[in-house]
Amino acid sequence: MSAVLPLPDPSPEVGVLLARGHDCRYADDLAAAERWFRQAAAISPATAEAWGALGEVLAETGRPREGVAALARADALDPGQPFRLAGLAGAEAACGEAGAAVATCRRWLALCPGSLPARQTLATQLLSLGMPEAAVAALREVVLLDPDQAASMATLVGLLTDAGEPVAALELAQPTLRRVPDHPGLHLEIGRAWQRLGESARAAAAWCRCLALAKATSPEAEAARSALAATPDPSPDHTPDPTYVRALFDRYAGRFDAELVERLEYRAPQLLLEAMRALPGFAAGGLDILDLGCGTGLAGAVFAPHARTLAGIDLAPRMIDQARRRGIYHRLEAGDLRTVLDRESQRWHLIIAADVFTYLGDLGPVLKAVARSLCRGGRLAATVERAPEEDGVIAMPSRRMRHGAGHLRRAADAAGLLTLSLSPATLRTEAREPVIGLVFVLERP
Ligand SMILES: C[S@@+](CC[C@H](N)C(=O)[O-])C[C@H]1O[C@@H](n2cnc3c(N)ncnc32)[C@H](O)[C@@H]1O
Repeated sequence: MSAVLPLPDPSPEVGVLLARGHDCRYADDLAAAERWFRQAAAISPATAEAWGALGEVLAETGRPREGVAALARADALDPGQPFRLAGLAGAEAACGEAGAAVATCRRWLALCPGSLPARQTLATQLLSLGMPEAAVAALREVVLLDPDQAASMATLVGLLTDAGEPVAALELAQPTLRRVPDHPGLHLEIGRAWQRLGESARAAAAWCRCLALAKATSPEAEAARSALAATPDPSPDHTPDPTYVRALFDRYAGRFDAELVERLEYRAPQLLLEAMRALPGFAAGGLDILDLGCGTGLAGAVFAPHARTLAGIDLAPRMIDQARRRGIYHRLEAGDLRTVLDRESQRWHLIIAADVFTYLGDLGPVLKAVARSLCRGGRLAATVERAPEEDGVIAMPSRRMRHGAGHLRRAADAAGLLTLSLSPATLRTEAREPVIGLVFVLERP
């Protein structure tokens, strides 16, 4: 059995050389430090400290390849020293040996599982090896261990955005943004995430913030300036971009029902059915029903017993997947609700839109399309969130829109639809406060 022997202390003579080298290094005289460390290594080639310190100085003075050789020698003499592995990984990274740097970082992490620099170096090197998914995993651990790591968060937001997950990126960045509000690189990447979602106003705001925080000549400022120059003006009525809505609900699909029904006491579907039942002439069965923005099918489920056929359309394919599982729809499609309305005229006995017009601005065009798509005597039952102004259409910070009763009546009149009922009701809660909406039924005469 072989025992692990401790390394002998350097001889007093070598100890003096090392001490002088360290003194010079701290005094920033790296050329002198190098001479002392070289001398120590020449006199005592088995002293790991001499090779290690020499390797660090070589790497610091722009000779990372020689630094790697010296640090690797120190590591071989005295393996398992985290600070030395840190130096070795840095030097390997600096001379483009990403594969070796990754291996060194993994050894470093095995010794120090909580090390942020080890994970950060690992992530950078994985990226240069063309392994963004593995880099994302390492960076996720960094920001989980310490949400204040704004530079790592910026890289992570950029990678997730490039991987088509800008909503996840924005969600993840929130705690860091609150705690470190002045990191220009993070605002730059936040802007790219919003841009990917088609939210040019929010993207532009993030880039302006980046410009305000960054040095004028920095790469971040340069990138923010060219991004701003290439960004179109945002939509004048602040209607959220469909790309954003789709990404939001795709991400939300798996937990939508539990969130809305159990936590937010969502009841728009039941309110629509009550509004329909309260009107004379409600045919309780045999209806061809179109569910606009059907989501996971919460409203479809309430109306299915009254349907001869039930069709649903939604922007978010993952919401459609959830709706399909209910087995109640005869037809489901992923797409903008306007496509089905434009395609199928005089078709539907009933069109429902539960909490969907909340994602549209001016309702004039959509109600005209609804009017064409309904058969004679056909009805639309829908909800909106109520705007404080009778005639108003306003955008909320949540990206949802609110509509006033006057706006609804005017848009219905312009579309040739009769307003059969229109009344306020609590649609759900938000931060434990009721969200007041309008429930309305329109009819094609
Ligand atoms: C709050 S959810 C309501 C879902 C469903 N109606 C319900 O009551 O459970 C809103 C849904 O509308 C969809 N949506 C928003 N704008 C849309 C559009 N222009 N075309 C199709 N679907 C849309 C969203 O993808 C989302 O699934």
